[in-house]
Amino acid sequence: MDTIITLDSVTKTFREGRKLVTAVENISLEIARGEFFVFLGPSGSGKSTILRIMSGLEKSYHGAVRLAPEIDRNDISFVFQQFALWPWLTVYDNIGIGLVARHAPAPLIRERVGRELERFGLAKFARSFPRELSGGMRQRVGIARALATDPKIIFMDEAFSELDSFTAAALRRDILEIWNQTKPTIIMVSHLIPEALELADRIAVLTVHPGRLEKIVRNTLPRPRAKRSKEFFALEDHLYSLVSP
Ligand SMILES: Nc1ncnc2c1ncn2[C@@H]1O[C@H](COP(=O)(O)OP(=O)(O)O)[C@@H](O)[C@H]1O
Ligand SMILES: [Mg+2]
Repeated sequence: MDTIITLDSVTKTFREGRKLVTAVENISLEIARGEFFVFLGPSGSGKSTILRIMSGLEKSYHGAVRLAPEIDRNDISFVFQQFALWPWLTVYDNIGIGLVARHAPAPLIRERVGRELERFGLAKFARSFPRELSGGMRQRVGIARALATDPKIIFMDEAFSELDSFTAAALRRDILEIWNQTKPTIIMVSHLIPEALELADRIAVLTVHPGRLEKIVRNTLPRPRAKRSKEFFALEDHLYSLVSP
């Protein structure tokens, strides 16, 4: 496998009051360059924790995370569930913030922000503030911000779960289209089996307390995925049986 990121026996324990909670227990796996990889599991199965560890947001854990040598922190982007936009910055400035943080030259910032505004249908909101936008538009800004830096790895933590189902479906289509064009590695967390099946090349099924890796399921259904096909339903049943054995 052309590996971009490796987890080696990653374990993370939190103290909750007097007891210890093992959020992530002994997870080892490899993700391939250009892969669309989804961690699937119920609430509390350690999905956010594993994503934070892989992306470098969480620094205290046991085990090791190894990135391919050409990847550095600037090649990584994160899309959050709660959008996490800066309320006092315009849409334009929110999208550009990652480039500003990377000290990109002004013309490049203008070019990239313009590209993302266009791509996500946000041009007429460039001067608006996040509070003036719908949830779907806010998450478009969140995704545009992540993509503006041309990341090699994109982490997405339940990025569609705060949105209504129509908006979520539209954003899933956008993400797949972008992934098809430039093939970044996308590592996403979801608690929705159909969402995982629509998007992923492989799905890592996690269990709750401790957050263990139950199984990695490969999804070779041809894209775009026919969500009412018998093969799709069969994989869906298989994943249900793994998530709730
Ligand atoms: N900062 C924290 N402090 C204490 N416990 C935490 C913290 N973050 C997560 N946990 C615990 O770790 C477990 C996994 O959490 P999380 O990774 O958020 O799961 P998921 O994203 O799958 O819902 C949960 O039991 C949660 O209560
Ligand atoms: Mg979570």
